[in-house]
This record gives sequence, structure tokens and C-alpha cells, in this order.
Amino acid sequence: MMKQKTNVTAFLVLALSLFLGVATADEIATLRHGTPIDSESDPAAIPQVFDGDIKTKRNYPMQPPLIPHDTRDYDVNLQANKCMSCHARRRTEESQAPMISVTHYMDREGNFLAEISPRRYFCNQCHVNQTMTREVLENDFQDMDELIEERAAKSKDD
Ligand code: HEC
Ligand code: HEC
Repeated sequence: MMKQKTNVTAFLVLALSLFLGVATADEIATLRHGTPIDSESDPAAIPQVFDGDIKTKRNYPMQPPLIPHDTRDYDVNLQANKCMSCHARRRTEESQAPMISVTHYMDREGNFLAEISPRRYFCNQCHVNQTMTREVLENDFQDMDELIEERAAKSKDD
């Protein structure tokens, strides 16, 4: 008997939250910032891209490094790969750009190729620019080293 009562309550709570969910759907769609569906708002300004030419720290060893320069108008397509005109092994002396790492010359079986592997051809799949904007969401990412330090400090207290 008791069990049935909880089931009914659970159902009512679910039904109510579904109803509320529909009723407040407009407020949840934050990307439109409440602009009615039949009108258009002014587009946000295009943010400036970080172009400081200095390396940013990687957050973990396997992170594809962020791009510290502007890449506007750098084509990467079937005919050309602008990135490779500076980052290829043969070009680095002239460009002083860091060479793409050796992993970029490996095929999926781990064989080294003379040219960039097709798996690494589309640079922007993994490497991104940074824009000078406010974070949309607060980021509470913690570096591994910070976590280790925290734990060490804690175990000292114990
Ligand atoms: C005109 C030459 C040139 C071109 C084209 C170019 N880069 Fe670079 N890149 C550099 C140089 C030089 C650096 C070293 C830092 C700096 O001076 O900005 C660099 C740094 C980088 C880094 C940082 C590496 C690290 O260890 O932190 C990445 C990632 C990168 N470039 C990716 C790209 C991608 C992706 C493209 C194409 C969309 C591209 N680059 C096109 C010259 C170039
Ligand atoms: C599938 C993901 C992926 C693609 C595609 C990719 N990269 Fe990377 N890249 C990485 C990762 C991960 C690292 C860091 C680990 C490593 O070196 O393999 C890296 C490292 C680098 C570095 C730093 C090398 C060093 O020794 O410091 C440069 C420069 C770079 N990539 C440029 C490029 C360029 C230019 C392209 C396109 C031609 C490209 N990458 C395509 C994932 C990728």
C-alpha cells in the first residue's frame, strides 16, 4: 500500500515538472536571449582572435596546443594546406614555426610517412584559436599538478 502511494507521488512530481518544463521553455533557450521566434536580434560582435605569438600552457600532456596566432584566410582544402607552408618539416627553417610533431607523420598502424598523415591533415579539427571574450560558462578545470598538491597537503594534515 505504502509503495503505491510513493509511486503516485512520483508520478505527480514528474507530471508537474514536465508541465513546468514546457511552460518555461522560452527562458531555457538562452542562445536567443529571449528574442521572439519571429524576429531577429542584432548579431554579437565578432570577437578578436588572440595573436600574441606566445605558447600557452597545455592543460594535459596530450592536449593539441592552442594556436597563438591569427589564422583568418588560411585555407586548408584539397588543393592547399596553408598551415603546412610554415609548419611542415621542410618549411620550419624559413618560417621559424615549430614543426608539427612526429605523430602527425604517423599512419594509424604507427608507420612513419614522408608527408603529413591524412589523419592530421585538417589542423582545425584539433587545434583552435583563442578569442578574447568572456567565458560563457565559468571554468573550474584543475590541472593534474594542482590536484596532486591538494591531495599531498591534505594527507599531511591527517
Ligand atoms: C606564416 C607562417 C604560419 C602559418 C601559415 C601558420 N603558422 Fe602556426 N605558427 C607559426 C609560428 C611562427 C608559430 C610560433 C608562435 C608564433 O610566432 O605565433 C606558430 C605556432 C603555432 C602553434 C603553437 C604550437 C605550440 O607548441 O604551442 C600551433 C598549434 C599552430 N601554429 C597551428 C597552426 C595552424 C593550425 C595553422 C593553419 C590554420 C597555422 N599554424 C598556420 C607560423 C605559422
Ligand atoms: C587529430 C588531431 C590533430 C590534428 C588533425 C592535427 N594536430 Fe597538431 N597536435 C595534436 C596533438 C594531440 C598534439 C600534441 C601531441 C603531439 O605532439 O602529438 C599536436 C601538436 C602539434 C604541434 C606542436 C608540436 C610540438 O612538437 O610542440 C604543432 C605545431 C601542430 N600540432 C600543428 C598542427 C598542424 C599545422 C596541423 C595540420 C596540418 C595539425 N597539427 C593537425 C593533434 C592534432
